[in-house]
Amino acid sequence: MGGLKPVRVWDLPVRLGHWLLAGGFILAWLTGDSEEWRLIHVYAGSAAMAVALFRVGWGFIGSHHARFSSFVRGPAAALAYLKSLGSLSPRHYTGHNPAGGLAILGLLALAIATGASGWLAYQELYGDWVASLHESLSHLLLALIALHLAGVAAGSLAHGENLVRAMITGRKQGATADDIRHSRPLAAVVLLVWVVAASWWLAQ
Ligand code: HEM
Ligand code: HEM
Repeated sequence: MGGLKPVRVWDLPVRLGHWLLAGGFILAWLTGDSEEWRLIHVYAGSAAMAVALFRVGWGFIGSHHARFSSFVRGPAAALAYLKSLGSLSPRHYTGHNPAGGLAILGLLALAIATGASGWLAYQELYGDWVASLHESLSHLLLALIALHLAGVAAGSLAHGENLVRAMITGRKQGATADDIRHSRPLAAVVLLVWVVAASWWLAQ
C-alpha cells in the first residue's frame, strides 16, 4: 500500500447506521421467539429496517464512498477481487470492495424484506404464512451476515487493515484525493430522528 495514508472514508451516517443496524438485528434476533419480548423485538427490528431504508437513500445522495455508484460492480468484478485475495498482492479498494458491495445490497434488501414481513405478521395480516416467511427471511439474513463477517475478516487479514476499526473511526488507507472531507453530522441527526419516528410508528 505504498503512497497510501489514512483518509476519511465513511461518513457519520454510514458508521452510526451500521452499528444501529447491527445492534437492531442482534436484539431482534435474540427476542424473536419470545411473546414476552415481542414489543422490544418489534422496536429493534423496526429500527434495523429503518436504518436499511435510510441507507438506500444515502446510497444516492451520501458522500462519495457511501454511494452505490462508487462501489456496486458486477459479479465478474466481485470474482476477480475474491481471486486476487489469494494472491500476494490483493487489490485494495479505499471504499467497499466489489464482493463486499454485492453483499451489502443483499444485506440491505434482506433487512428491509425481513422487517416488512415482520410488520405484516405483527399486524396479523395475511395469516400464518407471513410469519413463516418472516422467519425464513431472518434465517437467510443471518446466513448472509455470517458471510459478511467472514468477508470482513478475510479483507482485514489480506490488506493488513482493521476494517472493523475503520467502520468506527471512518478512516482507511487511501490516496489524499479519496478523502471525503465532511463527515455529515447533520445527516446523522436526521438518521436518528427517522429511526426513532419510524420504529415508533411501526410498533403501533
Ligand atoms: C431485521 C429485523 C428482524 C429480525 C432479524 C427478526 C427475526 C425474527 C425471528 C427469528 C422470529 C421468530 C420466528 C419464530 O421462530 O417463530 C420473529 C418473529 C416475529 N417477528 Fe421479527 N424480526 C425482525 C423484524 C421484525 C419487525 C420489524 C416486526 C414488526 C414490526 C417483527 C415482528 C415479529 C412478529 C410479530 C413475530 C412472531 C411471528 C409469529 O410467529 O407469529 N419482526 N422475528
Ligand atoms: C456485529 C458484527 C458486525 C461487524 C463486526 C461488522 C463489520 C462491518 C465492517 C468492517 C464493514 C465495512 C466493510 C468494508 O470495509 O467494506 C461493514 C459494512 C456493512 N455491514 Fe457490517 N458488521 C457487523 C454486523 C452487521 C449486521 C448484523 C448487518 C446487517 C444486518 C451488517 C450490515 C452491513 C452493511 C449494510 C454494511 C455496508 C456499510 C455501508 O456502506 O453503509 N453488518 N460491516
